[in-house]
Amino acid sequence: MSQDKSNGQERVDLLVVGAAEVATAMGQEALGGARLAGCHVGKGWAVAVAGERIAGVGPEAELRARFQADAELDACGGTVVPGFVDSHTHPVFAGTREDEFEMRTGGATYVEIGLAGGGILSTVRGVREESTEVLLAQLLMRMDRFLELGTTTVEAKSGYGLSTEMEIKMLRVIAEANRMHPVDLVPTFLGAHEYPEEYRDRRSDYVDLLVKEMLPRVAEEKLAEYCDIFTETHVFGLEDSRRILTTAKDLGFRLRLHVDQLTPLGGAELAAEFGADSADHLECVTDKGIEALGDAGVIPVICPLVALYLRQEQEVPGRRMIDAGLAPAIATDFNPGSCYTQSMPEVMTWSALRMRMSASEVLTAATLNAAASLNRADDIGTLEVGKRADLLVLDLPNYKHLAYELGRSPVRVVVKNGQVQFQK
Ligand code: NIG
Ligand code: FE
Repeated sequence: MSQDKSNGQERVDLLVVGAAEVATAMGQEALGGARLAGCHVGKGWAVAVAGERIAGVGPEAELRARFQADAELDACGGTVVPGFVDSHTHPVFAGTREDEFEMRTGGATYVEIGLAGGGILSTVRGVREESTEVLLAQLLMRMDRFLELGTTTVEAKSGYGLSTEMEIKMLRVIAEANRMHPVDLVPTFLGAHEYPEEYRDRRSDYVDLLVKEMLPRVAEEKLAEYCDIFTETHVFGLEDSRRILTTAKDLGFRLRLHVDQLTPLGGAELAAEFGADSADHLECVTDKGIEALGDAGVIPVICPLVALYLRQEQEVPGRRMIDAGLAPAIATDFNPGSCYTQSMPEVMTWSALRMRMSASEVLTAATLNAAASLNRADDIGTLEVGKRADLLVLDLPNYKHLAYELGRSPVRVVVKNGQVQFQK
C-alpha cells in the first residue's frame, strides 16, 4: 500500500464493491459457545486488498474515499465471506470405491468392509501402484475443484501409503501440489491410518516402524506439520496411539486425531491429554470426552456428512458440544471411502440441519475455527485488516442462504492471496 500524493488516498490493488453484505467472524482465536454465532454482517460494505493482504473492510463509501484502487471487483449484489477452510481431508488417492458405497447401501458396515481387506486398504493398494506424476495430476485437479467450491485452505493427510517410502511419496506429492497451486495445503502425516497387509499379524512391529523410522524421516524432511492417528477399537488402540503421539510430540509435530468415530474409546480424552489442536469425528464421544476437550481447549472437527455416508445412526453431538462452550470447526473429510465430497457449502447446510447450528455458527466453524484448528487463525479465516486476502463473492442475497440452499455451488468469484483465481 502506498500514499498517493495528489489526493491523500492510499493506493490498493483491488476494491471489492457492490456487495449486499460482507459477513465474517472476527479475531485470531476459535470462538466457542454463544460466541460461535458472533459473525459480523456489514450491509453495503466493501473490502480493500493490497498485495496478498486485506487493507480495509467497511462501508463502501468510506473505503472509496480512503483508497485509490487499481482494479474493482463488482460483487453484483452478492455476499462476500472469507474463503472456506477445510480442516480434514484425505485428497491424495488412486481409484475410487463406488462398489463399497453400494455394499453399504445394501447393508454392509464400514468396519466389515475394512476387515475383509476393502476400505482403506483397497486405496492403499491403489496408491502404492500409482506413479507420483499421476497422483500429483489428480491432486491438482481436486484442488481446482476445492477452489471452485470456495475452499482456499485445505488440510491434506497422507495415510494410504503405510510404508516409509509410500508415505513419503504421498507427502512429497502434497508439497509439490502446494507449490504449484494457489490453494494452500496443510500437510498431515497419517501413517497410523491402518495396519498394512504385510503387518496384519504383527501389529506392534508396525508401531515400531512408525516411531523408529517413519516419524523421524518425515520430521527430518519437514514434510508434515501435523501427525494424525485413526484411534479406534479395530485399528490403533489407546496404548499404541499414546506411543505414537509421544514420539510425534517429541519430534515437534502438532497433533490432530481421528477419535471416537465408531466406538466410545476415550479418544477425545486422549486428544486432550496430549494437547492436540483438534479431535476429529467424535460421533460416539461421551459427556466426559466433551468435558475433557473443553478443559484442554481442543477444537472438535465435525464432519457431518460421514455418518450419512456410512449410514451410521449415531451423529456427532454438535449442539451439545456448543452448549458446553466448545468451539467446533466443520469439515468435509473428503476421501474415496467414507465421504466422497469436497463441498463445504454442502457441509454447512448439513451442519445446520443435523447439528442445529445457525448460519452464523456454521460460517464461523467453516472459517475462523477451522483456521484455528490448523494453527492459522492469525493469518486466515476472517476478513480483517492484515489477514490474507482469501475471500469469496457468493451469488446469494445474504449469508443465511449459505446454510439454507442445498445442491448448487453459490461461489461466483474466489480471491486467494489477493488474486482472482476463479470466476464463474
Ligand atoms: O476419516 N476414519 C478413518 N479414515 C477416513 C476414511 C478413509 C477411507 O475410508 O479411505 C475417515 O473417515
Ligand atoms: Fe478422516
